Amino acid sequence: MEDKAKAEAMDDLFARAVEKAGEVCRPGVGLVWGDGPLDAPIAFVGEAPGQQETRMRCPFVGQAGKVFDRELGEAGIDRSKCWVTNAVKCRTVRVSPSGGVVNRCPNNTELSDWLPLLIEELEIVRPAVIVCLGGVAAKAVIGKGFGTMTGQRGMWTDGPSGSRVIATFHPSYVNRSPAARQAFREDLNEAKRVSEGRI
Ligand code: URA
Repeated sequence: MEDKAKAEAMDDLFARAVEKAGEVCRPGVGLVWGDGPLDAPIAFVGEAPGQQETRMRCPFVGQAGKVFDRELGEAGIDRSKCWVTNAVKCRTVRVSPSGGVVNRCPNNTELSDWLPLLIEELEIVRPAVIVCLGGVAAKAVIGKGFGTMTGQRGMWTDGPSGSRVIATFHPSYVNRSPAARQAFREDLNEAKRVSEGRI
């Protein structure tokens, strides 16, 4: 697709996503759409936006985003050249025992609501490599072919429009375990290598 056609297709998809958000997101919780250039060689797919992302209308700009940015820097991946998005496009929450509102994992209905738009989004960008950040994103993108993160992280599968897909840990988990951080770093290096055509 030419640049202009890509931009038009993404504008049209965004307009449909705004409508979808009106139907399926909690009232007052806005859409957080993907961010980045439409010719990105790598796309990252997270779970769902959190509070900060919802405020800024941009994926991975809160706590998990800080870890994500740091690790991208370590791997020599320029975030401004990547497409960054989420499987679910609005914040999913629950009430904590203390009465506060906290993030929760998107459920299957929320994932199915957004899946067709996610796939279309990835088909428009057509990145060489899609990195699924966490098991929820991996189940959305890879589908039934994805079992567990322990068994399948760092392994390549085929994705939409000829892309190669790799699943790794979610950035919010990476700071909690040195082994996960090590694995995350390996997976980012691998994603960079394949996106550069060094297969
Ligand atoms: N976690 C996600 O999965 N996505 C975000 O955008 C932020 C935190």
